[in-house]
Amino acid sequence: MSVHKRDVKVVTTHQLHNMKERGEKISMLTAYDFSMASILDAAGIDVLLVGDSASNVMAGHETTLPITLDQMIYHASSVVRATKRAFVVVDMPFGSYQGNSSEALRSAIRIMKESGAHGIKLEGGAEIKESVTRILSAGVPVMGHLGLTPQSIYKFGTYTVRAKEEAEAQKLLDDAKLLQDLGCFAIVLEKIPSTLAKKVAESLEIPIIGIGAGPHVDGQVLVVHDMLGITKEFKPRFLRRYADLHSIMTEAVQNYVQDVKNKDFPTEKEAY
Ligand code: KIV
Repeated sequence: MSVHKRDVKVVTTHQLHNMKERGEKISMLTAYDFSMASILDAAGIDVLLVGDSASNVMAGHETTLPITLDQMIYHASSVVRATKRAFVVVDMPFGSYQGNSSEALRSAIRIMKESGAHGIKLEGGAEIKESVTRILSAGVPVMGHLGLTPQSIYKFGTYTVRAKEEAEAQKLLDDAKLLQDLGCFAIVLEKIPSTLAKKVAESLEIPIIGIGAGPHVDGQVLVVHDMLGITKEFKPRFLRRYADLHSIMTEAVQNYVQDVKNKDFPTEKEAY
């Protein structure tokens, strides 16, 4: 059989597992479009997440609920076209997997076929067991997501830290173990106490990727627009800003506007 191979060593679920075993932390960021994904991939990111946070940062919605399967596939295929090395995971959007495992499988297969992504992520534990099992049985790598699960925001009512109480912490531990036993290759833990995240990471063999879950997990994920400082208002304690692109971009655009108004752009040298 002849196969078309990418010319760099690509990240696989197997390698992510080995990274956990040897204590190498996994880096993960969101990406939604070709240009950004090219930069992140070339900079050496291990996992690119086509997050349903696209609903917020790309489309301007208040929650992740409105984004559709077609829109996720559009973002995912743009990211996949840009990626040479990273493992690309796509969020299954709200409503595409919760109620019915046949629909979940159909949605996951559409994502894999139409975008060329390498795996999918979905939110929840025991309540989505059948969907997870069905998708895994088709050979699709599945990443879990527990703790603060933004698709359930109207159930929680707020975006505050989850699983501070014993009962919710125990359910999270049970759900994490269940997802591992079902065959998930990794789990994202969002906004939970650091001690609980540590307990999950230490008791499971699969990589645990945290966002607002402290340092004692196997990797970290952030929304790229937040860590690059493109968004300004979102300031949770867990967010470290590595750049202030909002200011840099604003100044660049203001300079452009001024140059156009003052007839300083273009010059003869910039014309044909
Ligand atoms: O959609 C997203 O960006 C996510 C991350 C916050 C993990 O699920």
